[in-house]
Amino acid sequence: MIDELNKMINESDNIVFFGGAGVSTESGIKDFRSKDGLYNMKYKYNPEEILSHNFFINNTSEFYKFYKENMNCLNNEPSTCHTFLKKLEECGKLKGIITQNIDGLHQKAGSKCVMELHGSIYRNYCMKCGKFYGGKEVFESKDIPICNCGGIIKPDVVLYGEALDNYTVEKSIDLLKNADLLIVAGTSLTVYPASSFINYFNGRNLVIINNDPTNYDNRASLVIHDSIKNVLDKIKIQGI
Ligand SMILES: NC(=O)c1ccc[n+]([C@@H]2O[C@H](COP(=O)([O-])OP(=O)(O)OC[C@H]3O[C@@H](n4cnc5c(N)ncnc54)[C@H](O)[C@@H]3O)[C@@H](O)[C@H]2O)c1
Ligand SMILES: [Zn+2]
Repeated sequence: MIDELNKMINESDNIVFFGGAGVSTESGIKDFRSKDGLYNMKYKYNPEEILSHNFFINNTSEFYKFYKENMNCLNNEPSTCHTFLKKLEECGKLKGIITQNIDGLHQKAGSKCVMELHGSIYRNYCMKCGKFYGGKEVFESKDIPICNCGGIIKPDVVLYGEALDNYTVEKSIDLLKNADLLIVAGTSLTVYPASSFINYFNGRNLVIINNDPTNYDNRASLVIHDSIKNVLDKIKIQGI
């Protein structure tokens, strides 16, 4: 299986990567649906409810308590996968990364073309005057982060019940439509609409690398149920 993936990567110069929380578990960030993921921790509300637009508006203080306890990945470092993708882009084979993650680790690894479908913890805006704030200001604030103007600061993170950014969606679809090899990794492919974008891929090979099975496994040319690191460590790319 690894040999097959090795061949596909070496033969393509139009690769797109589509990833999820599993890309960052090796950086020490919990995913949602694995055994020790956030969904299996005990909270008064479930994470999907807390990370929703209505919850943010109506229970802002509670939202920020959860957000600051669980979403602060300012100090996490890129994993094997982030670094591998940076090199693959550098040598011209990878055309873009589409991620559902909000942790900014692809940029930290040095990747240039990163579509963040669900936004980023590094961008935050005042809901009243629109002033920009970085990640540190929000995570280090006491209780609810407030702008100089008195407005509440909101992370530029797509909460459940909110729409995805148009430009990011269009650019992602563009990448998928034009790709020849699509590598999907570390995602349960259960979060809609992000997962449905894979349907735009019409290229030669779809590869899925994920610890657990996904609903898209039967459509893939190659499915590897293993950790991303185990797989990528064995890939040898000519020129990198
Ligand atoms: N790092 C982050 O930014 C982060 C973290 C948690 C959740 N989220 C958000 O939550 C949503 C969750 O959806 P999702 O599909 O991304 O995550 P998910 O938790 O639903 O699924 C993660 C999948 O990755 C697999 N996985 C975990 N570690 C792996 C590894 N090392 N190697 C191979 N597979 C591995 C698991 O088996 C699981 O199927 C997304 O919308 C995302 O925005 C983001
Ligand atoms: Zn303001």
